[in-house]
Amino acid sequence: MKSAVPKFAVIFAALAISIAIGAQQVPEAPAGFDGVTNGSAPQNVMDDASKVFQEVEAASPNGLGPVFNDVSCANCHQTQAMGGAAQVLEFRAGHNDSSRPATAVNIKHRGDTNGSAGTFVAATAITANGTAIPNRSLINQRAICPDAQEHVTDVDNIRATRLSLALFGDAFVEAVPDATLLAIAKSNHGEAIMVDVLESPGTQAVGRFGWKTQHASLLSFAGDAYVNEMGVTNPLFPDEATQVCQPAQGVTQPNSSIDDINNFTTFMRALKVPPRGPITAEVIQGQAIFEKIGCATCHVETMATAPAGTAIHGGAYVLPDAIGGKQFHPFGDFLLHDVGTGDGIVQNGPPDTQYKVRTMPLWGLRTRTQFMHDASMGTYSEAVMKHGNEAGNAVSQFRGLSPAQRQLLYQFLGSL
Ligand code: HEC
Ligand code: HEC
Repeated sequence: MKSAVPKFAVIFAALAISIAIGAQQVPEAPAGFDGVTNGSAPQNVMDDASKVFQEVEAASPNGLGPVFNDVSCANCHQTQAMGGAAQVLEFRAGHNDSSRPATAVNIKHRGDTNGSAGTFVAATAITANGTAIPNRSLINQRAICPDAQEHVTDVDNIRATRLSLALFGDAFVEAVPDATLLAIAKSNHGEAIMVDVLESPGTQAVGRFGWKTQHASLLSFAGDAYVNEMGVTNPLFPDEATQVCQPAQGVTQPNSSIDDINNFTTFMRALKVPPRGPITAEVIQGQAIFEKIGCATCHVETMATAPAGTAIHGGAYVLPDAIGGKQFHPFGDFLLHDVGTGDGIVQNGPPDTQYKVRTMPLWGLRTRTQFMHDASMGTYSEAVMKHGNEAGNAVSQFRGLSPAQRQLLYQFLGSL
């Protein structure tokens, strides 16, 4: 490993310089928690789409359930403004099948979870009336009838909870070229996974949304969320999780046309990036410490979108002027890393992603109360100390900071 360090440092420095040079001419993405469009859609179109995002669905006539987590996108995506995060924790489960060969990664983690070494198998939930819902790691916490309520069994002894994420700025994240994410992955050992773009069958792109980078497209994520969070089937996800308590009376299949998920997407693509808090002299000093001790390796400060007019997602989405050719500051790399917090779940990635999670983008950090994917940490220092493995070097440098230096670092984090 020692000989790799200088090479790694050179590549990273080169990348940082090229981003910095590029950054000078590239306009900033608009920032605000104000509900005002970023320009990708007229204000009235964004407002109408926002109303659909806030709509409360019912079993009849909208097709809510039979199993679901909440009744509206807004219930899990609202703080500061519509589209923020929430304190909601979702529940996933599965187990490692020891009769199948273990990957090197989960052998290494054998002691980290309740699971035995082996290949990840998503949970088989059992509904209250005894019906199995196989091969689905998401365990829905609500149902439209008692019979459909899901339960996990002792077999599925890997358990994970995950916090909701804010949607501000995702319009710009979606427009980052795959090549940018692949270059960062090469320099910081992050893992980029290729995922299906569901609206363009046969097309793949680098996943960047969700804790496991399970989607690349906001339209694909909207279809996924509609069925998995709310149980509303749609053209991208036409199948109900279970037939228990189905079909609900007077409900079409799929439960909704493409219009709803198009509206969710229009709304998300019109959101601005999170605005910064005051940038004081202390904040600037804290940022220098953040960079010096290696936090910015994963919490990447600046990225740029592809030029306006670029067709992405297999031609399904052409970047408008408001989105293309902008720079923004996510303080994240949208890649998977093993920082010792991995949740043991595999979604759209290969088996070695089991113990990895996406670098949490730190933009908007000051608007959150609980940290890490499972909400297990309550302060910035706890969140940093929880990092290990790939982030081990940065954390040991953090340990070496004086109390005054740590305070500066926290002031910087509190400005995000
Ligand atoms: C029960 C709460 C809940 C509901 C309802 C919900 N979400 Fe989410 N949302 C979450 C959670 C939790 C995550 C993180 C999921 C993960 O990656 O495991 C998330 C993640 C997302 C992301 C990825 C954001 C990012 O930056 O990576 C998008 C996009 C999204 N949701 C859109 C929607 C849309 C659109 C709806 C309505 C159809 C919706 N969500 C309904 C809880 C919810
Ligand atoms: C190897 C990549 C990597 C490095 C280096 C790294 N982080 Fe992280 N960071 C992550 C990942 C991955 C997560 C999400 C972990 C989880 O949720 O389980 C995270 C989460 C966080 C969070 C929690 C954010 C939230 O809203 O939940 C904070 C704060 C944070 N990092 C700060 C830092 C600081 C400060 C440093 C430097 C000392 C640092 N990180 C270095 C990858 C990294």
